[in-house]
Amino acid sequence: MKIFITRIIPDRGLDLVKEHFPTCDIWSAEMPPAREELLQHVRGMDGLLCLLTEKIDAELMDAAGSQLKVISSMSVGMDHIDVAAATARGIPVGNTPGVLTDATADMAIALLFASARRVVEGEKYVRSGNWKTWNPKLLLGADFVGATLGIVGFGRIGQAVAKRAQGFDMRVIYHDPSAQSAYGAQAVDLNILLRESDFVSIHVPLTEKTRHLVNADFLAKMKLNSILVNTSRGGVVDQVALYDVLKSKKIFAAALDVTDPEPLPTDNPLFELENCLIVPHLGSASQHTRDMMSLLAAENLIAGLNGERLPNCVNPEVYD
Ligand code: GLV
Repeated sequence: MKIFITRIIPDRGLDLVKEHFPTCDIWSAEMPPAREELLQHVRGMDGLLCLLTEKIDAELMDAAGSQLKVISSMSVGMDHIDVAAATARGIPVGNTPGVLTDATADMAIALLFASARRVVEGEKYVRSGNWKTWNPKLLLGADFVGATLGIVGFGRIGQAVAKRAQGFDMRVIYHDPSAQSAYGAQAVDLNILLRESDFVSIHVPLTEKTRHLVNADFLAKMKLNSILVNTSRGGVVDQVALYDVLKSKKIFAAALDVTDPEPLPTDNPLFELENCLIVPHLGSASQHTRDMMSLLAAENLIAGLNGERLPNCVNPEVYD
């Protein structure tokens, strides 16, 4: 069996793959393979283990060849993979849901708190030698107790955020027509959510329907002094519209774990703004979580190569 792994993943998963298939081909550079390199490397492969940095489309599947048996992504998000094209070719696609729910919800809360209490601005202030005295009006932020948190997309991660917010005595509302209530959160219409929320946290997958869901209209409906947190995908937010509302202080701040593109070029205007906090897609970046993601990705890969059902398959219709 020929296998291509597009980066060095944590040992938990890598060791498992090597135990079953000692001769797998691993891309060992820090940067992901460029498109042409990827197209070349997949040629003749039976199994592909990729990350969210690789675009896996019909062209790539055809470049690999009809022997390709499985595509396993070490991610929960699937927007980098043309799943319909894989299904049309009978190729099962695996992802890594569940194991990163808590870490990603923790990051959403960390970003919300850092933004609301101006942690990064404070750190820069101290480092640059501006801290002269305790000042009753210095870097004032927002309170959590009694504030309303609006969660857009109430799947596993959105619900885990609601669970955490309960502990801070926040009122939690959510918008997700396909979800049941949990953790005392109340289902509301999106317009009501935007009108009433002090904090808005985005937890929808990136699809054609959710691309630029957070646009000028969405942002205009948010409360003055509210905070936007995005740990889903950068493409869900129209960053030009976001820049405008942050610059004109129509909302208090935004905290982004994800951008479009990634990495965000350093000349992007969002970097000019003190009220925009950006971190490099760290939602699932805890040691244990990444170990578990690599393990699930390895298990999906191995199952696919052995002709077994993937433990986490996003297109189970290939088995019909
Ligand atoms: C991270 O963003 C993931 O999709 O796993």
